This record gives sequence, C-alpha cells and structure tokens, in this order.
Amino acid sequence: MSLFRKKNIEQMIASVEGSALKKALGPLDLTFLGIGAIIGTGIFVLTGTGAAQAGPALMISFAIAAVACALAGLAYAEFASTIPVAGSIYTYSYATLGELAAWIIGWDLMLEYGLATSAVSVGWSGYLQSLLAGFGLNLPVALTAAPGTVNGAVTFFNLPAFLVMMVITTLLSVGVRESTRVNNAMVAIKVAVVLVVIAVGAFHVQPGNWQPFMTHGWNGVFGAAAVMFFAFIGFDSVSSAAEEVKNAKRDLPIGIIASLAVCAVLYVAVAAVVTGIVPSAQFSGVSHPVSYALQVAGQNWVAGLIDLGAVLGMLTVILVMSYGQTRIIFAMSRDGLLPRKLSTVHPRFSTPFLTTWLVGIFFGFVGALVPLDVLAELINIGTLAAFSMVSIAVLIMRRTHPALPRAFRCPGVPYVPIFAVAACVFLMVNLQWITWVAFLAWLAIGMVVYFGYSRRRSLLAQPSR
Ligand code: ALA
Repeated sequence: MSLFRKKNIEQMIASVEGSALKKALGPLDLTFLGIGAIIGTGIFVLTGTGAAQAGPALMISFAIAAVACALAGLAYAEFASTIPVAGSIYTYSYATLGELAAWIIGWDLMLEYGLATSAVSVGWSGYLQSLLAGFGLNLPVALTAAPGTVNGAVTFFNLPAFLVMMVITTLLSVGVRESTRVNNAMVAIKVAVVLVVIAVGAFHVQPGNWQPFMTHGWNGVFGAAAVMFFAFIGFDSVSSAAEEVKNAKRDLPIGIIASLAVCAVLYVAVAAVVTGIVPSAQFSGVSHPVSYALQVAGQNWVAGLIDLGAVLGMLTVILVMSYGQTRIIFAMSRDGLLPRKLSTVHPRFSTPFLTTWLVGIFFGFVGALVPLDVLAELINIGTLAAFSMVSIAVLIMRRTHPALPRAFRCPGVPYVPIFAVAACVFLMVNLQWITWVAFLAWLAIGMVVYFGYSRRRSLLAQPSR
C-alpha cells in the first residue's frame, strides 16, 4: 500500500490559506503569464517543420492541438483550482493519486521542462543567427547547429544555444526571477511580432500556395498536430502561481483557457499567412521560418524586427521553463524522493544553486547537440502523458474527494476528461515510434530509481521525522 501513500490534501489547502505570499494577481495577469510561457519556439520555429509535414493544412493541425490542450486544460483547471498550492501537478498528484503516480509525473515533468529549455534555446539560436546575418555577421558553420541537422554542411555544436542556457542559468542561480513587469513587456513584444507577421504577411499571400491544401493527407495533418502541440505547452505554468492569485478558484481557469484561446487564434492566422507566402515544402530545414516568409515576401526590415522580437521573447520561455524544472526537482528532493543535496539553498542567493547549475549545464549540452525535432517529440510525449494522468486524476478525485470545494468544476465530467485523455493519447500515437522507445526507456529508468532509492528515502516512509 505504501505505493499509494499520500500527502494530506486538507493540510495542504490549510497551509495555503495561511500563506505569506502576497496575493496580487488577477485574471489578466494570469493570462499574460500563460501567453508569456506559451509563445516561443513552437510558433517561431516548428511552424516550418509542421508546414513541411502538413502543408497549408497546418492550420488544422494547430486547431487540433489547441482542442486537445483545451480539453486537458479544463481538467487541469479543476485540479489547479481545488488545490491552489505552489508547485505543479507533481504536488497535486502526491495528494490525490499517491506517491508512485506522483513520482512518475514528477520524473516525467523533469524531462519535459528540461528538454523544453534545450528546445527553446535551439529556436533562439536560429533567430539570433538570422538577426546577425541581417548585419552581415555569420558564425562558423560548424558552431551553428547540432550534428547532422544542416543539409550539405558539417555542424558540431550549437554554440549560441549553449551560451544562452548559460546566461539564463547564471541569472536563475543568483535569484533573478522574471518579474510580472518583465513578463508583461515580453508578452507585448511577442504578441506585437505575431500581429505584424499577420498584418504585413497578409498582403503577400498568394492563394495558389494554399493548393494542394493537404500535402501529405490526414497523416501529415495529425503528425504535425502532434508536433505543434509543443507550441501550446506552457499554459500549465499559470497554475504554479496559484498561491499569489487574488481569487485562485475563479481566476486560474480563466487564465489557462484565455491564454490558450488567444494563442490558438494567433497560431492559426500565422500558419495561414506563412503557408500562403511560401510553398510549404520550402520550409523544410529552415531554422527561422516566420521571418524567412517575410524575407521571401521582400520585407527584409520586417523580417529583422521579427528576428529581434523572437530573440527577446524566447528568453522568457527559457527562463520560465528552467525555473519550473528546478522547482520540481527541489520539491521532489524536499519530499525525500531525490537526494537531499538537490534541495539545498544557497546561503546568499536563496536559490537551489547546485540544482540550477547541474540542470543548466546538462540541458545546455542537450540543446547544443540534439536536433530540435527530436527534442520537441520527446517533450510532447512526456507532456501528453502528464496531461492524461491529470485528466484521470480529476475523475478519481471526484470519487475519492467528492465534497472538496471546487470553485471551478470541469464541465461535462466524465466526458470532458475522458475526451482529454483520448485526445492526448491520439496525439501521442501520432509521434514517431523512436520517441516512444526513448520515453519508455526514461520511465523505466525512473522506476529503477524509485524502487531502488526514492521509496525508502521518502519522507512519508519516515513518520518519526
Ligand atoms: N510553447 C513553448 C514554445 O513554443 C514551449 O516555445
């Protein structure tokens, strides 16, 4: 039974009610928080991969991914509004599903957030290089990308991706967190860039490029949806601010759904515009497809502005994801599931200094050496698995804790959570088999660590302490 031992929900909720954190955030702040974490490498870079895979029907792929996220988001929102505890679904699941499930989710999220920082650093690198090229500056080709990712060129190491990870790690390790004000500025920049793409690009669309609409049939559309799901990841970060929200129970779900909705509309429009400007097959292998489309349209100045906005805007995604990852490791270590050392706090900076650097360096190398498409698939499979588990958790909690106050109740239970699981699993099935192999291997390693170490070391295994 110890596999199902749980943290006490009522105690967790009570501890939040007495929380010392200032409750200052409202629904608009949360929506901005979500958009800040959502818009990044997905729309700016993977759009190229998606367009090559689905053709102009990429618009449909985005819509499919958005629907899957919205369904999972509704379940997520119920979870988040019931237990407004800082942390993430790792913490929630510890209280509801028990230790083993929490471990699996935490282990899974460690991979998700870590690889996401790597992936966004690769996207950042592509746009930085495009920006520099606009000024006639070019890095030595060998240092521009991961091995084997550029057709007809020999590449070894994505140096800009590595360096940006080191910068962000330095900031995080000395306690720099993104302030609401910086986030709002970044969101303004990113949304402005996307709107410029749509507004300027619309005048250069040649409807002929939308034919054929589905270049690789429905398989291409579904495959692209499974990849483009990446572009929506981040809306879940809204729930991590739970303790600082004025009216968490009402505002969290609003923040999650509103940020998803705004991004979905923007993404579909961007997909329509860029595939209308450039024949979709031409996007294959382009590392900065959105500004590339504007270059093709002859709008070099606008393309330069897009590069600049993307470079600035993606920094915030790396910061938020890195922060999320170090905090999950911190929480798991504090609970005894990972070595204690990982939750030591630096005496001067009050940050998990060691953990921040360990993961920063590790995922810095990952970003420098692994192709973006591989990273995105891995992140997606991990996240989709986590979202499925959350949706199932909502169903379980309705039975195990029926009386718990839920300001936001997921509509249409049990159907919405069931559809959410179905949608997530459907997208997972559309990922490549090699992604499944890697994911299952990661889970298997997690099981070995849990049964070999964490289970005995868990704080819940030591009631006397
Ligand atoms: N959704 C985030 C991005 O696209 C992870 O960069």
